[in-house]
Amino acid sequence: MKITKICCIGAGYVGGPTMAVIAQKCPHIQVTVVDLNVDRINAWNDPNTDNIPIYEPGLSEIVAAARGRNLFFSTNVEKAIDEAQVIFISVNTPTKTYGKGKGMAADLKYIELCARQIAKIAKENKIVVEKSTLPVRTAEAIKSILDNTGNGVQFQILSNPEFLAEGTAVTDLLDPDRILIGGDTTPEGEKAINALVEVYSSWVEKDKILTTNVWSSELSKLTANAFLAQRISSINAMSELCEKTGADVNEVARAIGMDSRIGSKFLKSSVGFGGSCFQKDILNLVYIAKSYGLSEVADYWEQVIIMNDHQKRRFSNKIVQTLYNTVADKKITFLGWAFKKDTNDTRESAAIYVADDLINEQAKISVYDPKVSRSKILSDLDYLATRSSTENENLVQAFDDAYAACNNAHAVAILTEWDEFKTYDWKKIYDSMQKPAFVFDGRNILNKKEMEAIGFVYQGIGS
Ligand code: NAD
Ligand code: UDX
Repeated sequence: MKITKICCIGAGYVGGPTMAVIAQKCPHIQVTVVDLNVDRINAWNDPNTDNIPIYEPGLSEIVAAARGRNLFFSTNVEKAIDEAQVIFISVNTPTKTYGKGKGMAADLKYIELCARQIAKIAKENKIVVEKSTLPVRTAEAIKSILDNTGNGVQFQILSNPEFLAEGTAVTDLLDPDRILIGGDTTPEGEKAINALVEVYSSWVEKDKILTTNVWSSELSKLTANAFLAQRISSINAMSELCEKTGADVNEVARAIGMDSRIGSKFLKSSVGFGGSCFQKDILNLVYIAKSYGLSEVADYWEQVIIMNDHQKRRFSNKIVQTLYNTVADKKITFLGWAFKKDTNDTRESAAIYVADDLINEQAKISVYDPKVSRSKILSDLDYLATRSSTENENLVQAFDDAYAACNNAHAVAILTEWDEFKTYDWKKIYDSMQKPAFVFDGRNILNKKEMEAIGFVYQGIGS
């Protein structure tokens, strides 16, 4: 089967960039990305592509070139489903906040809604692709809904998890380590797998396109995220031991990373990992393991989250202790609010939790992030429901300029590793701050010796 029309349900951090790249690389395919969120679709259609809702280096150029040609953003979900041969489901699968599995299991209500809508509309055979990250065996549930509520047409369900990381989404999509496609081992299943392989092989070498059964594909995505996050928690665990022993975690990471069996990536000690995926996916994995009665497996992976929570708390405690055990009424400036550099995404960012701890200690928080607005910062804090929105508004200020944000501060805390922070005139910042002037570098991006030479009391992570 030759694919000429694709629809993607969900115009978020995954659906938007992924479909933009498919449209760029496959000009013969019409790609329509749909979403229920009217504001988000309007932003994707903004005449000025700098205003698209997701900041990713290189993305606005790709959207500018393909939009209106073979890339479309729309709220007309039904029409797009009806016309497409292949439907990607790329909706959010957050941690459940209610009922059974609250705080652990993935909330699949958006997935189920998509399946029911596809079943209702489809009048011809379709391939449905799980692009969202899902618990292993979700394809079974989707198939059951499609077969029992549909119009008698045939559906093939494929699992095609996305491995892009935010901040590098475009390069990850253009040059992926691998593409994973799981499907039924029946002849129809293989036909569907081959149709999707054809799409990706427009720009990805065939030997990087891996095909497996559906369950392996679903579980591989959770496994990959668990392994990546586990590396960060492992090095963060060592960072605390380094601080007690005089070892330096950067040196330890370099020394172990040069062992080719370990590898050098994902060994940067930090204030703790954030982002929409790691915590949610590990909690989901823990829940799945528990539901099969595998308590040791569940406990093993849960420790990655426990360590990460500890690392965030340890950072805020360190600030309070160093500032003579009180931060009440002190101005503490956060450089960075996003969960990593080169993204405007703040989901589960360590900054939110560190700020919340410090506000509990009655600190006044000032924030500068090149891509995050004051309203987003406040809504992130409000979401924790620790205090009223009015209190958050009174205690948190946001600035468009880093120097203004640091003016008169007792301490600066670096929460995100934005490159521009390294190029600042730190002497100028020092001169404008209260003394002693403290810098807490939650990303180890500044040079300790240079900062101390200026006069700062500087504390990084793990040394
Ligand atoms: P997101 O919240 O940015 O986007 C999801 C979009 O789906 C939202 O705009 C929402 O309005 C829309 N939506 C929800 N239900 C809908 C429905 N019934 N009909 C139409 N639209 C609907 O989420 P995201 O970050 O793009 O993540 C999507 C999935 O991809 C998740 O399962 C996530 O785990 C996975 N994933 C995310 C990343 C990442 O880096 N963000 C990477 C790999 C995989
Ligand atoms: C992650 C996975 O990397 C990606 O493959 C998957 O598809 C989605 O989830 P993402 O969350 O976008 O991607 O970013 P990632 O680069 O993994 O960073 C996650 C968090 O870990 C960030 O807060 C980052 O700052 C932190 N991190 C990463 C570290 O603290 N140290 C490191 O060495 C690497």
